[in-house]
Amino acid sequence: MNETDRAPALNQLIDALPKAELHLHIEGTLEPEMMLALAERNGVSLPYETVEDVRRAYQFDSLQDFLDIYYLGMSVLINEQDFRDLTVAYLEKAADQGVRHAEIFFDPQAHTERGVAFETVLDGISAGLEHGRTSLGITSKLIMCFLRHLPEESAFEALACACKHKDRIAGVGLDSSEKGLPPALFSRVFAEARQEGFIPVAHAGEEGPAAYVAGALDDLQVQRVDHGVSALDDPALTARLAKQQTPLTMCPLSNLRLKGIPSLADSPVKRALDAGILVTVNSDDPSYFGGYVGDNYKAIAGPLKLEAEDLVTLAKNSFAASFLSNAEKQRHIAAVEEAARSY
Ligand code: ADE
Ligand code: ZN
Repeated sequence: MNETDRAPALNQLIDALPKAELHLHIEGTLEPEMMLALAERNGVSLPYETVEDVRRAYQFDSLQDFLDIYYLGMSVLINEQDFRDLTVAYLEKAADQGVRHAEIFFDPQAHTERGVAFETVLDGISAGLEHGRTSLGITSKLIMCFLRHLPEESAFEALACACKHKDRIAGVGLDSSEKGLPPALFSRVFAEARQEGFIPVAHAGEEGPAAYVAGALDDLQVQRVDHGVSALDDPALTARLAKQQTPLTMCPLSNLRLKGIPSLADSPVKRALDAGILVTVNSDDPSYFGGYVGDNYKAIAGPLKLEAEDLVTLAKNSFAASFLSNAEKQRHIAAVEEAARSY
């Protein structure tokens, strides 16, 4: 097949593949149209008047540049209905891109510090997830992230809230600004969270060094690393991730838009695949970075010269790296194989 025929054929395969999304911040799915509508509904003032104004602000030179706008944008989320609407809108887009299972981050401290109750956030998101399950056939799990720019004490407060809702929160994560904030700062709260039965994951190696990825493994005992880009700079750590089969949840369009990589041809996804790492492709904050999960697969396929076989592996990895039961993983992986056969 020549290059001109290849892209549409691979895009068709990507559309057809069932996928799990494992790295998705629900607040990062807030599209400009909904941001302005909720600002109006809730009487929140924003420094933007039109959708174009909002989109113009989405020029980032770093993770921190993005985070400043991300926290500002989410200030329109006030009521349970807002969180439900946000979640339903994401799941509808995800369903269109072949997502069958989603493990979704939320940032409760970013809401409680503005006076929005933990339960308002959780009840709204849960209602949206229930709609996703019954109307769209998407299963889900929730991962509560600690904000690493806030003190440990605030993380412990969030954990105390999460402990009241273990039936609805499967895991804990670590996100927000990374530079200068090593995982070890959160060793104690992660130890308690693990003790309470939450599955630990953490953002590491997005802007921080490979040592932070090792820190997430050793100090936080994470079962999955979110991003992990810089891990590929360290051959011993790369070999360790492959040997342990610790999944990496990579987000190519996010890395590009936050200038973690100069071009999509520099995405570490293919190097991770070639190294035998259980790597997955995800969207992170799709409204801000220009693409949902299928768009991320499509964006890297050409620049990384991925073959159909690589795309099928990525879709299988997305289920293998999930927190579903073995039986559920096998069922989804069989569906990926079936879609690949019909391609
Ligand atoms: N919060 C939302 N998106 C994030 C990202 N890409 N990195 C760290 N924290 C985040
Ligand atoms: Zn993220």
